[in-house]
Amino acid sequence: MTSVIQTMLDKEYLERSDIIELLRCSEDEALLLYRKAAGVRDRYLGNMVYLRGLIEYSNVCGKNCLYCGIRRDNRRVEHYTLTREEVIEAAMTAYRLNFGSIAIQAGENTSESFISNIEEIIVSIRKMTEGRLGITLSLGEQKRETYKRWFDAGAHRYLLRIEASSPDLYRKAHPDDGMHNYYNRLECLQILKETGYQTGTGVMIGLPCQSLTHLADDILFMRDFDIDMCGMGPFIEHSDTPLGRNGSENLFLKERFSLTLRMIAIARIVMKDINIVASTAMQAVDKFGREKAIACGANVIMPNLTPEIYRSGYRIYEGKPAFKEIEEVNVSGLNMDLIPGTTIGLGIWGDAPHFNKRMAKS
Ligand code: 5AD
Ligand code: SF4
Repeated sequence: MTSVIQTMLDKEYLERSDIIELLRCSEDEALLLYRKAAGVRDRYLGNMVYLRGLIEYSNVCGKNCLYCGIRRDNRRVEHYTLTREEVIEAAMTAYRLNFGSIAIQAGENTSESFISNIEEIIVSIRKMTEGRLGITLSLGEQKRETYKRWFDAGAHRYLLRIEASSPDLYRKAHPDDGMHNYYNRLECLQILKETGYQTGTGVMIGLPCQSLTHLADDILFMRDFDIDMCGMGPFIEHSDTPLGRNGSENLFLKERFSLTLRMIAIARIVMKDINIVASTAMQAVDKFGREKAIACGANVIMPNLTPEIYRSGYRIYEGKPAFKEIEEVNVSGLNMDLIPGTTIGLGIWGDAPHFNKRMAKS
């Protein structure tokens, strides 16, 4: 007898109610979901995992998100900003190891010196790699002119998580101080698309007060926004933050992990040809979290290339891996035995086919 879940998975379109059922199905039934998602990924994108070497440029952040370990009010953070030389060295490591792209991430900083430093770094990396190393940015909410300056300098992808697509839930996870405005974030995402970036967003899974309906709506939000890339991860408590005061609760963390796998799989089925990241937060909860995410339809990983002396400074949540994971013999750091049939895409940008289709339509 075909199960209710299988019947749902055979449908052309998933409705909101289907997504909620898939999020709450049993572990056994979830295997059908995962298998279907991996099949969609193989069919629309192939079986290749793309690499983005992650460079955590600075942990200085002007924002105060209630969940994040590097929020402005956490006085226990030792602040750092990489020198231009250090960023370029990390980028050249990525290039030498044949990574297709890097991703530059930092706390939110809107100062002119920060903006122009990033601009110059992008120009230098493009020049030194003859335009061959793709550049993704994840530098928060900025003005239209800033997004344009960085795009013109040579960055071509931008990740800005909406964190929670419900304005209500967003408000619960951010201070109500005029600096953390849901609609402003939405507008930034729109501007990123208009500027020409491959645009990515995502949410945290397991935030206090978040329901399965919220999560189903997050998927529909991303579908309707027509995103090119998606990065999602479990919320992990950080004890120096208002939302993490009780420390991490392992049992709940496991549930969040399995819910994240389901969200990844559903996102893949609903948005077939986008890039989906197997996030580091997955690896923080489960040693093989990234491999499991790939087996559920993800196709991008972001191995950390931040110089080791700064690693512990970028602790946005507790238990974030700070070890060196790149070895020349296995640059992805993945255990490939766990994801048979998958290969690592070396030397290619690995753009989401969705972006090219979106461009062709506009
Ligand atoms: N747990 C999990 N993810 C977090 N982020 C920030 N704080 C946490 C946390 N405590 C994520 C946010 C942000 C990204 C850089 O890290 O989604 O967009
Ligand atoms: Fe800053 Fe991003 Fe952390 Fe918010 S989530 S405090 S914007 S680094």
